[in-house]
Amino acid sequence: MAKKDIDWSNLGFGYMKTDYRYVSEFKDGKWDDGKLIDDDMIVMSECACVLQYAQTCFEGLKAYTTEDGKIVCFRPDLNAERMADTAKRLEMPVIPTDKFIDAVVQTVKANADWVPPYGSGATLYIRPYMFGKNPVIGVKPADEYEFRVFTTPVGPYFKGGAKPITITVSDFDRAAPRGTGNIKAGLNYAMSLHPIMEAHRNGFAENMYLDPATRTKVEETGGANFLFVTKDGTVVTPKSDSILPSITRRSLMTVAEEVLGMKVEHREVLFSELGDFAECGLCGTAAVISPVGKIVHKDGEICFPSGMEEMGPTIKKLYDTLTGIQMGRIEGPAGWVKEIM
Ligand code: PLP
Ligand code: COI
Repeated sequence: MAKKDIDWSNLGFGYMKTDYRYVSEFKDGKWDDGKLIDDDMIVMSECACVLQYAQTCFEGLKAYTTEDGKIVCFRPDLNAERMADTAKRLEMPVIPTDKFIDAVVQTVKANADWVPPYGSGATLYIRPYMFGKNPVIGVKPADEYEFRVFTTPVGPYFKGGAKPITITVSDFDRAAPRGTGNIKAGLNYAMSLHPIMEAHRNGFAENMYLDPATRTKVEETGGANFLFVTKDGTVVTPKSDSILPSITRRSLMTVAEEVLGMKVEHREVLFSELGDFAECGLCGTAAVISPVGKIVHKDGEICFPSGMEEMGPTIKKLYDTLTGIQMGRIEGPAGWVKEIM
């Protein structure tokens, strides 16, 4: 075993083909045993349900090298649970949690040479996904599916790493009330491609989406939940039925309350109260916690007192504690860190 010759510290968030991927097929009402393969190509019917009606969903988690040289991942059981919720909403078969975790473990082990070293700032991103594969022309779910897992080494999601970003408020909505905003369906990301390109063309790193019914409440971005800190140090995260229940956000709330003794609130957040907060950040597997320095909207801009140079003090404390748990420097709550090898 030899680590790949990669400039780990300068990786961005991009795809790099690694050696092995896991695939399991669902046919005649059941999953096969699944296996690792080295072919990264997928051949399917031109009329596959995923190609015609976007029947696809995914998850995202990371493998980390800990301070003492182990390879671990973080709360994969919650990714399995969320994928099951997504699958039910999309009329797809559920992957049992044990099978999901076994697939993740097998894929990471097989690609151990691609797991970035401790201290490099990079991690191995793990992408489990599932799609409807057989031909379907009337609008209905597929009968045959593939569940796959691939991995790719990644650096920070936003250029500049821990430097605060500027975001804008999208004129488009991310998710409908009673729609699919709370699940990890590919279709949610397809709809965000035009708004994110508009944001980038206008010089912004991301979009803030508001609640589609009233456009008065903060929801999330295209790929992360929001986290705010009040001037007296309370951590606040928006609550809505159309937000993806981020595992990072849920973990941070626990860390804030139970490890750091902070006050936390999970509640509706009005756009009109954003100017009262001291700090703002985006949290997610890819984003980790990315500080937001400024939000530009059609009537002006909101500049957080934490500024554009560095993370605010509370977000920094949360970041250090969460990444400390993930990299084995800090003992986290029982069961959060799964040892792979
Ligand atoms: N919100 C959206 C829309 C996402 O795509 C993601 C990424 O998974 C998140 C939030 C963050 O979720 P998690 O912390 O589980 O990665
Ligand atoms: C993740 O954080 O794992 C995601 O799926 C976000 C994605 C937009 C990269």
